[in-house]
Amino acid sequence: RMGRSQVECRPDIDTFTPGLLALYESLKPSEVHKSKQKQLVDSLAKSVSKEWPNAQLHLYGSCANSFGTSHSDVDVCLEMEIGTASTVEVLLRLADILRADNFDNVEAITSARVPIVKMSDSGSGFSCDICINNLFAVANTKLLKDYAQIDQRLLQLAFLVKHWAKLRGVNETYRGTLSSYAYVLMCINFLQLREPKILPCLQAMEQTYTMNVDGTECAYFDEVHQLQYFGAENKEGIAELLWAFFHYWAFHHDYRRDVISVRTGSTISKQEKNWTTRVGSDRHLMCIEDPFETGHDLGRVVDRQTIRILREEFERAAAVLQYNDDPCVALFEPYDYEN
Ligand code: GTP
Ligand code: MG
Repeated sequence: RMGRSQVECRPDIDTFTPGLLALYESLKPSEVHKSKQKQLVDSLAKSVSKEWPNAQLHLYGSCANSFGTSHSDVDVCLEMEIGTASTVEVLLRLADILRADNFDNVEAITSARVPIVKMSDSGSGFSCDICINNLFAVANTKLLKDYAQIDQRLLQLAFLVKHWAKLRGVNETYRGTLSSYAYVLMCINFLQLREPKILPCLQAMEQTYTMNVDGTECAYFDEVHQLQYFGAENKEGIAELLWAFFHYWAFHHDYRRDVISVRTGSTISKQEKNWTTRVGSDRHLMCIEDPFETGHDLGRVVDRQTIRILREEFERAAAVLQYNDDPCVALFEPYDYEN
């Protein structure tokens, strides 16, 4: 492994940039898609306000953080006073209301870390997750959106990585691989670590935005229009960055020692976080620190078997981009579970 970490990317890598950019453009959601999404959110807001007139509806996740594709679901957070009721009680009530208002496939999932109501709209084909008072998700949605405005290579990289992960079957937390959110954090941290840097560390800068969530201060520099030229000194194109991203996760990242941390713009040690041994079901084999809920490891779902699968996929992707004649096809070849 050490030998291969010295490898430089192929000299003709830039010839693949136009193809990758065309794919990126095709993944972006259409205007039609966005307006259908808005219709769903509006009708949801109507149903909710009948029962809870003071509830505020926030969009979070990829429909609001600018990392959404035309396959992404709609994530909604309701902010409301629930008095002595529990979140679960409110969610069950919400599920009843939505069923009565003819939403489809309404289901309350109350055992998850973040309990939600799931529903779909058979007309538009959208699915929607609704949570209550999970304002950390609203805060990290804004953080991701702000990072996306600094350098367009973040969106390009993250869309391609998410697309790759979906097709290769490694974007399934219930199977022990990583969430979309985890992949976006990996992309941000990777661009923070480039030389010259492509992204700054917003949480290490002057705090122009703060939001207090359950006693935790979520604060960072959000005047990102001032940072438009931040990454200009770095001339790397998307093909080279995509290769370097996979190469980093295949050969450079120190899985035994390190935690990637967007909060610090760097990597920190597992030791420092006390993530050296298994705690409950959190194995801490591949560690990705949540930028605001710093005790939360987005890699906690990864186990001995899935870390091997992930690393093999990173190696495969790096090799395809390095040696294949038509890498844009081979890279996104759907993984075949049958064989
Ligand atoms: P796609 O729906 O796949 O396009 O991406 P997404 O960014 O919406 O991801 P997902 O639906 O998996 O997660 C929605 C949001 O939940 C994230 O963007 C975060 O704001 C928030 N979130 C906070 N903690 C977690 C976590 O542990 N896992 C996931 N998946 N999401 C989290
Ligand atoms: Mg989503």
